[in-house]
Amino acid sequence: MKIYFAPLEGVTTYIFRNAYNEIYGHVDKYFSPFLSPVENCPMTPRERKDIAPENNRGINLVPQILTCRSDHFIDAAKELHAMGYSEVNLNLGCPSGTVCAKGKGAGFLKDTSSLRKFLDDIYSYAASDGMNISIKTRLGYQEPEEIYTLMDIFRDFPISELIVHPRIRTDFYKGEIRKEYYAYALEHANCPLVYNGNIFSCEDYDSFSRTFESTLDPVMLGRGLVSDPSLAEKLKGKTSETDFLKLKRFHDTLYHEYQKVMSPDINVLYKMRELWTYWQVLFEEKDRDIKRLLKAKKYAEYEEVASRLLSVTN
Ligand SMILES: Cc1cc2nc3c(=O)[nH]c(=O)nc-3n(C[C@H](O)[C@H](O)[C@H](O)COP(=O)(O)O)c2cc1C
Repeated sequence: MKIYFAPLEGVTTYIFRNAYNEIYGHVDKYFSPFLSPVENCPMTPRERKDIAPENNRGINLVPQILTCRSDHFIDAAKELHAMGYSEVNLNLGCPSGTVCAKGKGAGFLKDTSSLRKFLDDIYSYAASDGMNISIKTRLGYQEPEEIYTLMDIFRDFPISELIVHPRIRTDFYKGEIRKEYYAYALEHANCPLVYNGNIFSCEDYDSFSRTFESTLDPVMLGRGLVSDPSLAEKLKGKTSETDFLKLKRFHDTLYHEYQKVMSPDINVLYKMRELWTYWQVLFEEKDRDIKRLLKAKKYAEYEEVASRLLSVTN
């Protein structure tokens, strides 16, 4: 079974990926948070740092691109190819208002004739440069039925993998997965299909597999894998427990690595707070400590609470 780590902007940074890969592993592919190429600038220095091969050693990384301009996509893909990447991923799922207003991400799904032209351009480039292009998409912008037309379009291109998050733009990341529309995609795809959405446990994985009468392999996980970093290992049948010693090591590595590259202190604490909003599910009945942690403004207070939380459970 192959497990892919979904891109989570602000969370799955190169620092996170390195710590995760070293301490947990069992992830076959990582997708970078999106790069946003603009005219004459395929990526910002910050984006470049995140995907630089020297910052991602031993990590099978696929850089993701967010744009509705094929010339910008191709410029970025060429640069990534020169850096050694042989696959890039197109973001057709981002639901953010500013992104969609510019016709990008999920906002691109409503303009299917431009989308087709865009795909014509980028897959012609891909053939000429030996590049694989995968796509990460939602079911549609306004209605899940849009997937019918989208699948017709996708079938015309050599998509290396089609990752489907079975929601529409207005769902953002909430609400029930629209299962029957994923089943439609599964039936009508002529390329490898990757399921993504709401897998937080092995039981969730089994339940979705039963629903789709299909082994979800590969499968992409995002929030579930951040919340319980042992989940990949559990899904692969290598462990049944969440290892809190490992979680402490993971936490400490992230905390120290972020301290090396971020300032002032409060920015490191913001970063750690975001992670704790995911990890808190592992700490039942520790609400008071979690609340303190999420409010901590000084390292000393943060460290006191974090080390108590992480050691009590060992
Ligand atoms: C904070 C956050 C940031 C995200 N950033 C990206 C991104 O940069 N690119 C992308 O394709 N999806 C992004 N996503 C969507 C996730 O990759 C994933 O599709 C979504 O969380 C559903 O999968 P999950 O239920 O396994 O988390 C983001 C989601 C969240 C919550």
